[in-house]
Amino acid sequence: MRVALYPGSFDPITTGHVDIIHRALEIFDQVEVGVATNIRKTSTFSGDERISMIRETFKDEPRVIVTSFSGLLVDYAVDRGIKTVIRGLRAVSDFEYEFQMASMNRHLTDQVDFMFLMTSEEHFFVSSSLVREVAVNGGDVSRFVPGPVQEHLRNRLKAD
Ligand code: COA
Repeated sequence: MRVALYPGSFDPITTGHVDIIHRALEIFDQVEVGVATNIRKTSTFSGDERISMIRETFKDEPRVIVTSFSGLLVDYAVDRGIKTVIRGLRAVSDFEYEFQMASMNRHLTDQVDFMFLMTSEEHFFVSSSLVREVAVNGGDVSRFVPGPVQEHLRNRLKAD
């Protein structure tokens, strides 16, 4: 079975991430979404919340599984026996960062390869932090996040 790991902080998952996962499902039999829990940036949603938002989004797609990891991404991929890591590219600026990260990862292990998929044009400008900022300020984010995330954002805003 061809399996790919799609890692990220997903704070929260956006329609841009969903687009990448659908593209990956065209190539792989299973996509494992790996939610990074020890990221440098502080997250708005807890690891469990980020995981459950992704699970709810893909509840009808058994080929998507969601796990979490801490520590090095390549160690996690090797532990899981996954040889391909998917990353999305939105713009030229993403490429520079991704190239640097993939190069460093290649120095860490030769057992994992990185595959880059281009995000569709309507998602070029979407990022989790921009979505959060628009939502916090009362803007409509329905085009940028899947349904279950809209609900979580609304509940979070009510709670804060
Ligand atoms: N559509 C919409 N938004 C996207 C996107 C897409 N297709 N792809 C990325 N983004 C957004 C993300 O939501 C994120 O937004 P934010 O900064 O506002 O939160 C931003 O672009 C950056 O995303 P990404 O590059 O995927 O970073 P990340 O924080 O989501 O994930 C890890 C980075 C977790 C993969 C990386 O830090 C990692 O591997 N950490 C583990 C430690 C490690 O091994 N480090 C590498 C050493 S070389």
